[in-house]
Amino acid sequence: MRTVHSLKELRTILRGYRQQEKTVGLVPTMGNLHEGHISLVRKAAEAADVVVTSIFVNPMQFGANEDLDTYPRTLIDDQEMLGAAGNTLVFAPSAEEVYPDGLARHTRVVVPEVSEGHCGASRPGHFEGVATVVSVLFNMIQPDFAVFGEKDFQQLAVIRKMTRDLMIPVEVIGAPTVREEDGLAKSSRNGYLSAEERSLAPVIYQTLQATAAKITGGRTDFPTLAQEAASSLRDAGLRLDYFNIANSETLKPAAPEDQNITLLVAAFLGTTRLIDNISISR
Ligand code: PAJ
Repeated sequence: MRTVHSLKELRTILRGYRQQEKTVGLVPTMGNLHEGHISLVRKAAEAADVVVTSIFVNPMQFGANEDLDTYPRTLIDDQEMLGAAGNTLVFAPSAEEVYPDGLARHTRVVVPEVSEGHCGASRPGHFEGVATVVSVLFNMIQPDFAVFGEKDFQQLAVIRKMTRDLMIPVEVIGAPTVREEDGLAKSSRNGYLSAEERSLAPVIYQTLQATAAKITGGRTDFPTLAQEAASSLRDAGLRLDYFNIANSETLKPAAPEDQNITLLVAAFLGTTRLIDNISISR
């Protein structure tokens, strides 16, 4: 499995695959890979002949007080995991390769509506950074397919909308959230948790499940349900960013008659911000 850092080299290799009429699947990541990422690589390998995993800690999507500098960079371990999963090529560009004129002077992609609310409300500019880098990666690699995790539910919605609106000829594929045995969604940020915080963390998924069960049981008083969920997370010792019950397509607040509902949560354990979600169909 090869790792390339320059766009020029990447394009030369991809041209070779194209000449052999091979299809290309892309898995965009920020590295520090775990089983969640690897499940996306496996899914991409089912859809495409060649799988490219990009590893790029995208400065444009981090806020000023967020963890850009401390975000774990583990390229050697990542390469080992990807090799074992049947990945074809790793693309690990520098910031100069992605943003040749610098961040401030780079063209940005703004996706309205689905970017607003939830993480978009608490992380201003975050989804603009995500949409911009993903559109750059799509143009660099020109994949037939790209796989994203449902773990980042709003991100997946933003990318689907951007791809549709900009008529980007890439098929976006969603993949289910991979969890630890106790239910905690796998995340590169779980590594920031102390032992005590880690033991509390499963309450996030437990609260999502308990709330989902109340909805499937017939309750439609969503604002009250969200407040109850928020209180139980606070009682467990978490600092809540949001607990929202939304329409799965629009991500706007769910209405009692909605068929597809997604519960989205973001909460801090110490200084670590964790997100999770669960979708239900009625
Ligand atoms: P990152 O957090 O590294 O995640 C890369 C991909 O892995 C995303 O599509 C994410 O949803 C998926 N993923 C993470 N944890 C997962 C889990 N437990 N189960 C299933 N999939 C999981 O998301 C990003 O990077 C960036 O925003 C990126 C899209 C690469 C743009 O910079």
